[in-house]
Amino acid sequence: MSLLKLEIHAVRNIQKATLIPSPTINFIVGENASGKSALIEAIFILGRAKSFRCATIKSVINFTAAHLIVSAKISQTNGNQLHLGIQLDGKAIDIHINQQAHQKRSDLAYALPLQLIHPKSYELLDAGSQLRREFLDWGVFNNDPDFLPAWRKFKKALSQRNALLKTRRPEQLNVWDNELVTYGTIVNSYRQQYLQKFKPVFIEIIGKFLSLDGIDLKLISGWDTTTEFKRVLIEDQTKDLRYGFTHSGPHRGDFQLLINNRLAKHIVSRGQLKLLVMSLKLAQIQLLDNEQSSTGCLLIDDFAAELDVINRAKLLHYLSEMACQVFITGTELQDFGDLSQINNYKMFHVEHGNIKSV
Ligand SMILES: Nc1ncnc2c1ncn2[C@@H]1O[C@H](COP(=O)(O)OP(=O)(O)OP(=O)(O)O)[C@@H](O)[C@H]1O
Ligand SMILES: [Mg+2]
Repeated sequence: MSLLKLEIHAVRNIQKATLIPSPTINFIVGENASGKSALIEAIFILGRAKSFRCATIKSVINFTAAHLIVSAKISQTNGNQLHLGIQLDGKAIDIHINQQAHQKRSDLAYALPLQLIHPKSYELLDAGSQLRREFLDWGVFNNDPDFLPAWRKFKKALSQRNALLKTRRPEQLNVWDNELVTYGTIVNSYRQQYLQKFKPVFIEIIGKFLSLDGIDLKLISGWDTTTEFKRVLIEDQTKDLRYGFTHSGPHRGDFQLLINNRLAKHIVSRGQLKLLVMSLKLAQIQLLDNEQSSTGCLLIDDFAAELDVINRAKLLHYLSEMACQVFITGTELQDFGDLSQINNYKMFHVEHGNIKSV
């Protein structure tokens, strides 16, 4: 998969821009506040229908505009071309795929699998479990199309059960418990299977950047798996009724990154933490290629802030060999180091929201 042509309208200080990117690496250079992150944000919005910088899309829309639009022509791995478009006005989301309106976010996400590395990425291992759950589920979602329907049924059962718990009437709980157990168990086993496939790919990639022994990834299911999920729900019932929500289940799922059985985030340096997170994200893109023969798109905002010179060179070398379209931003051309060994790349210069190929 790669973006053949990208059009942006009213994303932050980018009023209007058209880009013909390279299918390999695209370097985006510009001074502070020129609009580099805005470009990365625009591509992210096209794949995920949300911003990575703020929860409300209103602040992303150019101050003088009522809505933003991002659209692209993409080539898929099977050779087909697709037109994707998204329009957001802060209230409604309008997604077009091949001129057909009212398409789903999930269709967008399947068409444009994106990973993002940016200065706050280390939060993946540092912050609460939700980010890691989303990370894991992105991988499972792209790895197996059967995951999404099971996940949706699980979410529905969970919200129905929680609504019932709030009424404090346990009579119908049994019906939703059965649904929750059926789909919760499926969701959990998809995550488990994915992590098994993911682990060796991740360990190989991290080995290129760090020499750390004893790295392991462990799934946290969201309940004590020495007991059946059904049994746990029964044991939790009094507590669930008292607080009005379901305490145990895959909605509490997580994964741990361990080094010799200790949580990595407690023992590694900040730089190592960034490299671990970067490798987790690269591994997801790599696994997509291995398993689905579908290449994703990788966005790296603020390249220099992430890594030291040696690791930047290693990363560029890795990216140049990876079958993946990449967009990388930096304030100086020198940030990217020696580009003489990289084929087919393109360079874009950003100034006051204007993007020019150089
Ligand atoms: N909704 C908006 N409408 C217009 N301009 C905006 C909006 N939101 C932010 N901006 C401005 O857009 C400009 C570009 O911001 P952006 O974050 O893309 O810069 P950048 O090139 O990534 O800079 P840095 O190198 O500091 O990361 C900034 O001047 C910012 O103040
Ligand atoms: Mg920026």
